[in-house]
Amino acid sequence: MIDNETMRSILARRSYKVFDGRPIDDEALETIVTAGLYAPSGMNRQPWHFTVIKSPEMLEKFGEARRSLPLPPGVPAHVAAAAGDPMRNAPVMILVSAKEGGTSAQDACLAMENMFIAAASLGIMSGWDHATVMDLFRHNPALKAELIPEGYVLYAAAFFGYPGPTVKDRGERKGTVEYK
Ligand SMILES: Cc1cc2nc3c(=O)[nH]c(=O)nc-3n(C[C@H](O)[C@H](O)[C@H](O)COP(=O)(O)O)c2cc1C
Repeated sequence: MIDNETMRSILARRSYKVFDGRPIDDEALETIVTAGLYAPSGMNRQPWHFTVIKSPEMLEKFGEARRSLPLPPGVPAHVAAAAGDPMRNAPVMILVSAKEGGTSAQDACLAMENMFIAAASLGIMSGWDHATVMDLFRHNPALKAELIPEGYVLYAAAFFGYPGPTVKDRGERKGTVEYK
């Protein structure tokens, strides 16, 4: 394998659930978002809308809405509490939404992956959070309306931040590749 900066960033990216709380500065955030905007998209439609949640007020509002979600079935309150802060101390959350149809789902996920890799190149890690945010929007349509354009579907949601102290190393990859 060729070793270059791009490959090092791809290999360094890991999913994180705990961040150290340090803010992401505007230049780094602009870099990450630009990487997302340069993702490929079907017929170059660039159908996405990025919602970058970074103000303490909106993060708090978002966190409060998450804390108010009913517990998933079968999860006792003490287990949920032990899982810790649902906002995971992340200073930024990015939502990628698009109008349904065409290749919107693929386009949105490609944009998010570009952002993950650009973030990793800056030492910033990320965590996928789509299911919880979908759940949150189901319970809180007013917040959804505040965060994504009307008629848009949420396709990807993730935390971004400088990594906290713990991570389970998931670096091993299964070799399911076939060359013909
Ligand atoms: C579509 C999707 C859904 C995911 N859902 C969760 C999740 O619900 N909880 C979680 O902890 N990680 C979730 N992840 C992260 C994966 O567990 C993680 O990417 C995988 O274990 C490989 O680890 P790595 O990202 O650190 O390389 C999700 C990732 C993707 C792409």
